[in-house]
Amino acid sequence: MQFLPELFANNREWAAQQAGRDPDFFDRLCAIQRPDHLWIGCSDSRVPANTIVGLAPGEVFVHRNVANIVRPDDPNCLSVVQYAVDVLRISHIIVCGHYRCGGIQAAMGPASAEPLEGWLAPVRSLCREHQDELAALADGERRWDRLCELSVRSQVRVLSRLPTIVNAWAAGRRLVIHGWIYDLHDGLLRDLEVSVDRPAP
Ligand code: CO
Repeated sequence: MQFLPELFANNREWAAQQAGRDPDFFDRLCAIQRPDHLWIGCSDSRVPANTIVGLAPGEVFVHRNVANIVRPDDPNCLSVVQYAVDVLRISHIIVCGHYRCGGIQAAMGPASAEPLEGWLAPVRSLCREHQDELAALADGERRWDRLCELSVRSQVRVLSRLPTIVNAWAAGRRLVIHGWIYDLHDGLLRDLEVSVDRPAP
């Protein structure tokens, strides 16, 4: 017996539609992968990378984890960045957070069980670092949303110091790191205007 038959039915329908619209679609995807964007986003089911920026399969290389955190000690994320930059030679890395992120909220509250608590440690530190700014905000939801933004900015900074990125810039490569945030309420993205395209002075 097959589990989740409806998903296989959806898949057959999707594949037929793609091939109907564009008979070369799958042949082209098989032949080459040449995305120009790396998306680092949250695992949250409401923030699907391709869908919200209208990019087709083959157009965005994706890494997602809880709360879209970039950690210099995470071989998973670092391998994705390395492959995207060195092999795929992408030009844009987008760190996309979202308001009302459950991971960010967890890092503001009582300790979670491991391994989640350890994973969220950089966000918990960031929350402590900015406690004065956060405390000055009117309510818990504003503090939560602000920490979502601060975290994106922090991940952009972490990325800009990774050896893969620093070496690409040193080699004269064009590579821009962007920090965006997605609003679940209206489906709109906002550029936090923290883009960097060169090493910090
Ligand atoms: Co999230």
